[in-house]
Amino acid sequence: MVKNAAEAAKPTESKAKQYIYIVQASLEQSRCKIGKTNDLERRLKEYNSMTGKSKNNVYTYLFTCEVKDMARVENAVKEEFSIFREESNTEIYLYNSKTFTKYVKFIKSHELFIKEMHYINPITKPAVKIVPKTTPSLKERGLTRKDVMQRAKRADDDEFYTRYEDIEKELSMYDKRIWKNKVVFCNCDDAVGKNENETSAFAWYFLENFKTLGLKTLICTHYSGPVDLFNQGVKGYIFRKTGFKVVRDEPDGYTGSFDDPISLKILNEEADIVCTNPPFSKMIDYWKILIESGKKFIIISAESNAVNTAYIPYFMNNKVWTGYNSVYWYENPKRQLVRAAGRWYTNIKIKDRETYKRLKIIPLKEIPDKYKRYDDSKILLVDGGYIPSDYKKPFAVSSNPILNGLLEKGYKIVKEKKYVPYIAGDEKFARVLVQKS
Ligand SMILES: C[S@@+](CC[C@H](N)C(=O)[O-])C[C@H]1O[C@@H](n2cnc3c(N)ncnc32)[C@H](O)[C@@H]1O
Repeated sequence: MVKNAAEAAKPTESKAKQYIYIVQASLEQSRCKIGKTNDLERRLKEYNSMTGKSKNNVYTYLFTCEVKDMARVENAVKEEFSIFREESNTEIYLYNSKTFTKYVKFIKSHELFIKEMHYINPITKPAVKIVPKTTPSLKERGLTRKDVMQRAKRADDDEFYTRYEDIEKELSMYDKRIWKNKVVFCNCDDAVGKNENETSAFAWYFLENFKTLGLKTLICTHYSGPVDLFNQGVKGYIFRKTGFKVVRDEPDGYTGSFDDPISLKILNEEADIVCTNPPFSKMIDYWKILIESGKKFIIISAESNAVNTAYIPYFMNNKVWTGYNSVYWYENPKRQLVRAAGRWYTNIKIKDRETYKRLKIIPLKEIPDKYKRYDDSKILLVDGGYIPSDYKKPFAVSSNPILNGLLEKGYKIVKEKKYVPYIAGDEKFARVLVQKS
C-alpha cells in the first residue's frame, strides 16, 4: 500500500527513538521518578507544567539514555527496585546517592541499553535549596543574619525542627482519654522560649492543648548540645507546667540530654507519655532507654528502622509499632523545608490503621510472578505489598509491610537480625524474615 506524504513523514512508534530517564524535582530531593518516553524534551515540559505544582519546584533530568525497548527496560527497573518504589505511585523511587548509582548501573548493564545521554554525578550534584514562600522573614523570626549563618554552619543531621502540623495530624488521631491527668515528657530539645520560634512544636502543641487534653503536667527539656536550635542559651533546662504553675529549672551541671541522670529520673519516675523527635544520630540509645523505661510513647524515627537489626527485636516482641502517619517534611535551621523518611512509632493502641489496605494478602500462586522470587538460600522474597496467605515457611519482606501493620494481621518476625538476601551471588537490599503465626 502506498503511503501519502503526511503519513510517510510521521515517525512510526517503532522507528521513534526510545529513552529511559531519571528525573527529580528540586523540592523533593529524597525521591526521583523513573520513566520512559519517545521525547525527552516534551516529557520534561509536561513535568514542569503539571497542575498543582509549585513554581519553585523544578524538575530536571539526573540521567537519560537511549534504549531499544523502553517498556521492557522500565519494567525490569520496576521489578529490580520494587522495594524502593512508592506504593501509591509506582513511578516514584527513593533517591539518595547510593540508590541512584544502583539505578544507573542497572539500566546501563541492561541488554537493551544503547547509550547514555545525560548523567549528573550525585556526589557533585548541587543541593538545591529553595526557600518556600511561606518561610517567615528573619525579622518575623526574631533573628539576625549572623544568627542564621552561625546556626547553619553548626547544623548537622540531627538539627531539624518538627512541623506543628505533622504533630497535630498524628496526635489528633489518638483517643483523647489517653492524655487525661497524664504527665507528658518531651525530652529531646523541646525548648520553651518566649515565642513560637524559640519553642519546639511539641512543646507548643501540648501548651496549646493542655486544657483540652486534660494534662496533669507537661515537662520539656532544653539540650545544651553544640547546636542551639531554639536560641535558648548554652545551659540545659527543665520546663514544667502543672495546672497554672510554670517553673523553669536549671539544675547545676544539667545537660538536658535524654540520658542525663536528671532526665532519666523524670522519665522513670514521673513521665506517663513521652513525645518528641529524637536526634537521628543517637536513635539506637534513645530507643533502648525509652523502651526499657516501660513508658508509653509517641515518637518520630526513621522508616528504615523496621529492617535494622538494632530495632527488629522491638517490633518482634511487640514493644513498638507504627503510628498513623509518615513524616516527610521538616525544617532545617534556616527554616527551609527538607525531606527525610520518618514515621511515627508508638506503643499506644492504634485502631483502624489506614495502611492495612496496602497489604495484599492472597494465596502465593495468585501473587504476580514479578513480585515473588527465591533467593540463593531458597527463601521466598515478596514485594509490591504482596503477602502469601498460605505459605507456611519463613519469607522475607521489606520494611513497608511491617510499617503497614503486617504483624497485626497474623504474621510474626522469626529472626532477630535483618535478613540480607543474595540472588545469583549478588547482595540484595536488607529485609525482615516473617512467617504466618
Ligand atoms: C530532630 S531535632 C528535633 C528537635 C525538637 N525536638 C523538634 O521536634 O523540633 C533533635 C534534637 O535533639 C537534640 N539532641 C541531640 N542530642 C541530644 C541528647 N543527647 N539529648 C537530648 N537532645 C539531643 C538535637 O540538638 C536536636 O535539637
